[in-house]
Amino acid sequence: MKICVVGLGYIGLPTASMFASRNFEVIGVDINENVIKAVNSGQAHFREPDLDMLMAAAVQTGRLKAQSTPVEADVYILAVPTPFTDGHKPDLSYVSAAVNSIAPFVKHGSVVILESTSPVGTTEKIAEQLAKARPELSFPGYKEPGHENQVFLAHCPERILPGNDRIIGGMSTLCGKKAEAVYGAFVMGQCYLTDCRTAEFVKLIENSFRDVNIAFANELSMICDKLDIDVWEAIQMANKHPRVDILRPGPGVGGHCIAVDPWFIVNSSPDESRIIRTAREINLHKTDYVCERVKRLATRFRDPVIAFYGLTYKNDVGRPARKPVAPYRRAVRPLFGRPHTGMRALDQSLATISGRAQQRRAEEGRRGTQ
Ligand SMILES: NC(=O)c1ccc[n+]([C@@H]2O[C@H](COP(=O)([O-])OP(=O)(O)OC[C@H]3O[C@@H](n4cnc5c(N)ncnc54)[C@H](O)[C@@H]3O)[C@@H](O)[C@H]2O)c1
Repeated sequence: MKICVVGLGYIGLPTASMFASRNFEVIGVDINENVIKAVNSGQAHFREPDLDMLMAAAVQTGRLKAQSTPVEADVYILAVPTPFTDGHKPDLSYVSAAVNSIAPFVKHGSVVILESTSPVGTTEKIAEQLAKARPELSFPGYKEPGHENQVFLAHCPERILPGNDRIIGGMSTLCGKKAEAVYGAFVMGQCYLTDCRTAEFVKLIENSFRDVNIAFANELSMICDKLDIDVWEAIQMANKHPRVDILRPGPGVGGHCIAVDPWFIVNSSPDESRIIRTAREINLHKTDYVCERVKRLATRFRDPVIAFYGLTYKNDVGRPARKPVAPYRRAVRPLFGRPHTGMRALDQSLATISGRAQQRRAEEGRRGTQ
């Protein structure tokens, strides 16, 4: 079976490597030449535990190759970005471009799987786009099932680790079964079959669930500030109740998913998604709120040193991705005046400290005071 993975980022590259490690012939496609070069030299262009080894083996044995254009394949996996625009509207331009790029190559029997997190209805839009580009082929919803030139479509939200369960949303029952057979190559968890709209929605509500719960904890932290109560103690006490499990408040929400995906629901159902929208707004506001507190506290000191603990958006990842620390750095920077050398990450636990403080320490070190 030949698999073409379009988009070799955090999701596409491990997925491509995983399939290659199961002896499939995998062509990885990316529009970024640097990514293609890195992959073909057997090196991931980002840090991910164990990925380098998996990928190097796949490239060395010739089972994984990267290039800029798709090829004719049995399976296409789309793992391109799905960001939002300035007005929090989904930006599906990457998906659309990826679909255009595979359209000339899909053939009778191809399975096209969208792994990108997407608004409800995206898989159907892909079918429509492909049906227009390839009228001689049959796509679910566009020509009767069973047509001899059928192409199969499904949405399977990303869950790379083989042990994880997977949700598989076919555009038809047969599409779901075809996609399930593809993932059967490496998924050791359970595969749950559903339709593509439900699968799209499931991924969005998983992340919205997290966002809403984080927003609750963040809202409590601001209420507690006002009422002069220690929020940590209050939450700890409340969590003694067997049916209460409040999360820990934080400075906002980072990452590729939780801070993005709820907007896809809000955009599709603005009048109905009031909790989801409010939660997003609370979590965004919490970042400004903490910035203001940091500024207020910092101005009490003549030469403040500000340390940010934790640059990445969750444990054990090597990337900041939408971490709220960026707005802090912007907000706090003017406190230091000019010339300002900026705040730099020192390591992943004590992540950032003012450049000016570092400079002062270096000077003190030179004068033998440390
Ligand atoms: N990163 C995560 O932890 C994570 C988790 C869950 C879901 N997702 C979802 O997975 C999808 C991909 O995310 P990612 O983090 O891998 O993105 P990424 O930015 O790391 O990688 C995307 C890759 O796609 C390439 N690309 C863009 N347009 C292309 C095109 N037309 N043809 C070929 N390549 C193209 C880019 O050059 C890039 O290398 C998104 O929908 C994201 O929301 C990501």
